[in-house]
Amino acid sequence: MKYSEYSVVIIGSGIAGLYAALKIVKQINLPEGILIITKSTLGESNSKYAQGGIVGVVHQNKCDSVDLHVKDTLKAGAGLCDENSVRGISEASDEVLNDLIETGVKFDKNKSGDLTFTLEAAHSVRRILHCGGDATGAGITKALCEKVLENPNISVQENTIAVELLIDSDKICKGVIVYNELSGEHEIVYTSALVLATGGVGQVYKYTTNPICATGDGVALAYDAGAIIQDMEFIQFHPTALALSVNDKNRFLISEAVRGEGAKLLDKNGIEFMSKYHDKKELAPRDIVARAIFSEMKKENISSVYLNASIIDSSKLFNRFPTISKKCIENGIDISKALIPVAPAAHYTMGGVKSTIEGRTSIRGLYAIGEVASTGLHGANRLASNSLLECVVCAYQLADLLSFANLSIPKKIDDSIRKIIEKYSAPISEDEYDILTLKNSLKDLMWDNVGIIRSKESLEKAKKIVDNLKSKFTRDRKCLNIEEYEYRNMLTVSSIIIDSALNRKESRGAHSRVDYTQMDAEVKHTEIMKINERELINVK
Ligand code: FAD
Ligand code: SIN
Repeated sequence: MKYSEYSVVIIGSGIAGLYAALKIVKQINLPEGILIITKSTLGESNSKYAQGGIVGVVHQNKCDSVDLHVKDTLKAGAGLCDENSVRGISEASDEVLNDLIETGVKFDKNKSGDLTFTLEAAHSVRRILHCGGDATGAGITKALCEKVLENPNISVQENTIAVELLIDSDKICKGVIVYNELSGEHEIVYTSALVLATGGVGQVYKYTTNPICATGDGVALAYDAGAIIQDMEFIQFHPTALALSVNDKNRFLISEAVRGEGAKLLDKNGIEFMSKYHDKKELAPRDIVARAIFSEMKKENISSVYLNASIIDSSKLFNRFPTISKKCIENGIDISKALIPVAPAAHYTMGGVKSTIEGRTSIRGLYAIGEVASTGLHGANRLASNSLLECVVCAYQLADLLSFANLSIPKKIDDSIRKIIEKYSAPISEDEYDILTLKNSLKDLMWDNVGIIRSKESLEKAKKIVDNLKSKFTRDRKCLNIEEYEYRNMLTVSSIIIDSALNRKESRGAHSRVDYTQMDAEVKHTEIMKINERELINVK
């Protein structure tokens, strides 16, 4: 098998991976360079589609403070945030965002040249920076990709999927096996620091705002390697994805910032309904708005409710939301006049690989940053626009952490690693599957049984089916293409979500059970890890 060696290897080219690469090469003299491995093209990621913005607790914003941001984040997180992580990330915001601006990111400014801040649900002040109106992710990703491509010390390998981590018998990560779609070959990459920046799991659900790359690969790889996975029952459903038809499954987002600027939710009769659910109405925490819409849809047996943005001044509407207006116009909806059909869709993964805000995981040599990580920032429900902030702050802190690490490549390969390499060196003898059909039926199952509202019965039904599928399509399988590896990972991640949801016998934040409707007085995290092929679930 072909092999290569790099001091640092980053899996994923969203904002977390790109920014980490830039900060690491700037701070550390790497003996063997840095490699970014990414499944499709550089920058294709959840990050690229981020709309509303990035929380900026910056000195320029006189009406905001770290204390206020911490308070809002803890409140949205429904008692499950780690206050140290929240404070650490909030305090770093000013320095990191100014560095991002120096790196070339152009946040929107007013005519006087001052940064402009928008409002989203559950924020008590305007504190969200944005680019190109509603194209924040595209703006940041473009600036970071340009810098990565012009840096001679960063190598990029596209169309390549990480398929298994190389963990030695001392439980240290020594590298990764990848599958290169262009050559059709598996390859070995050795490294001293393997960084997972693989994003979320939205594609595990039928309706999602996430692009097709969001199949939970990082969580599945880390779980398989024996890392601790935390709080995976907390999947955030965004309340307002564009719902043109029930067959339209990868859904375009209608940003919360549209509600932040004044748009209202209406039922099928054109009546506002949010006051029935929360005193903050359209700007209540995201889980509450998503459940309110879901409940209206169920009650009336309809496939969407409506968002009325026409009450916002039309020149402001088009300037502030150019991407959303254009997408709606392409689908025959002039948002300054017509109502927008919207429905909830899987959007964000609050849980993930248990990590510190510097990216340290429970496995030496393995780091996790961005959406794949669970740092304790989001608790049971993420506050809007905190995710991009977490991506950049954790990438920044990871670079600091690695500047003290020994980054010389491990030369010793032991039997544990040799066994993994042998599996991928063997010829492929597997049958071919209709992967698209398999993926779709898993997504339907997860949406119907492990979605916005759950119960013991629905979760156990899903568990039985997923366990059976996993026994037929095992993790030992050497797959034929990227899609098969993704399906393998989607099965692992679905199983982790189901087990975590079964174990959380309460309703809290984004996790809502009809059989345990109250919040438990005791606050606990769900931890899952694999020990010697057996799953260990530990609720603590
Ligand atoms: P991603 O940006 O998802 O990048 C993951 C990368 O890993 C991709 O390049 C992917 O191809 C690659 N990858 C995955 N698995 C593998 C593998 N096995 N091998 C190789 N490569 C792999 N958050 C906010 O804070 N503000 C917003 O306004 C906002 N708007 C959003 C709008 C939309 C439509 C969506 C979907 C999300 C939004 N979010 C927002 C959430 C936010 O965008 C994400 O949480 C964040 O961008 C995640 O960044 P990341 O770098 O961790 O992962
Ligand atoms: C949005 O623009 O509504 C998405 C913001 C987020 O997910 O943080």
